[in-house]
Amino acid sequence: MQNKINDLLKKVGEFSPATMAEIEDFRIKILGKKGELTALFEEFKTLSGEQKKELGKSINELKNKALNKINELKEMLDKGSDDACGEIDMSRPATESAIGTRHPISLVKNEIVGIFSRLGFTTAEGPEVEDDWHVFSALNFPPEHPARDMQDTFFIERNPDILLRTHTSSIQVRVMQNSRPPIRVVCPGRVFRNEAISYRAHCIFHQVEGLYIDEKVSFTDLKQTILYFAKEMFGEETAIRMRPSYFPFTEPSAEVDVSCNLCGGKGCNVCKGTGWLEIMGCGMVDPNVLEACGIDSKKYSGFAFGMGVERIAMLKYGVKDLRLYFENDIRFLKQFEAIY
Ligand code: PHE
Repeated sequence: MQNKINDLLKKVGEFSPATMAEIEDFRIKILGKKGELTALFEEFKTLSGEQKKELGKSINELKNKALNKINELKEMLDKGSDDACGEIDMSRPATESAIGTRHPISLVKNEIVGIFSRLGFTTAEGPEVEDDWHVFSALNFPPEHPARDMQDTFFIERNPDILLRTHTSSIQVRVMQNSRPPIRVVCPGRVFRNEAISYRAHCIFHQVEGLYIDEKVSFTDLKQTILYFAKEMFGEETAIRMRPSYFPFTEPSAEVDVSCNLCGGKGCNVCKGTGWLEIMGCGMVDPNVLEACGIDSKKYSGFAFGMGVERIAMLKYGVKDLRLYFENDIRFLKQFEAIY
């Protein structure tokens, strides 16, 4: 009998199944009603008291080993521990991998670019580290002119001619240098200004600027283009108004306001009771700028505009603190569904 016990012990030890079905077969063969171990127990009953004493311990050990082994193997297969049993269950659902969402600034930038592309504007990009000429001089900022203070510039210490662009107008300069009218282009990009960070200002932000140059381009064209943009961006009922302003590179220049889409123009805390929200600067390109870039200002005229993407995004999504766009808090970012 001891031999039989030893044989079975060996069998249990060597058993290495690949499927649940094999384990079940094994269980029936050993522990089932007609199983080998069950038969051994029957035989055990017939033994004398002395023999029982001798073999009782080993037969019980065998039973426990068999039970434990079967349970362990079942558990392993259940958990999908493929290495143990050498089989991959192709029907198991895969572990889901999280998909990110587009940053709200990218969403709004893409939407702005999309609106102008429907009017025939192409897109151009340019370097963030620029020279003085592309950011200021070509745009009619004379040296030492106080207008340069309007845009607090980060200079590269060793060479003050090299700086971080303060607006994407520098891209428009490059486009004018490298192509001939008609020009219809929008220039999205990151810009830098040495400003204290607060809920409404940051030293890094994003702009989309636009330029349209052809024969006989007028202020009416500018106004109509901006009105179309405002209605597409903020809704069909949106109105615009223009207030005289000053930029060295445009003459005349204007600031554009849209009717507040939160209160419908009645006045609320976002529009500070005025019913209007400022969204961009614009104007007719100064002939000096056209000439500096090699375009005949007698033959051609044009308009330009520039807006801050964060500002448009704040108005569109009702976000009151601009810093949220830079903190990359996943709880904030997750709220913006990809529309583009
Ligand atoms: N470049 C200006 C700015 O950054 C915006 C602007 C662009 C104004 C084009 C008028 C025309 O503030």
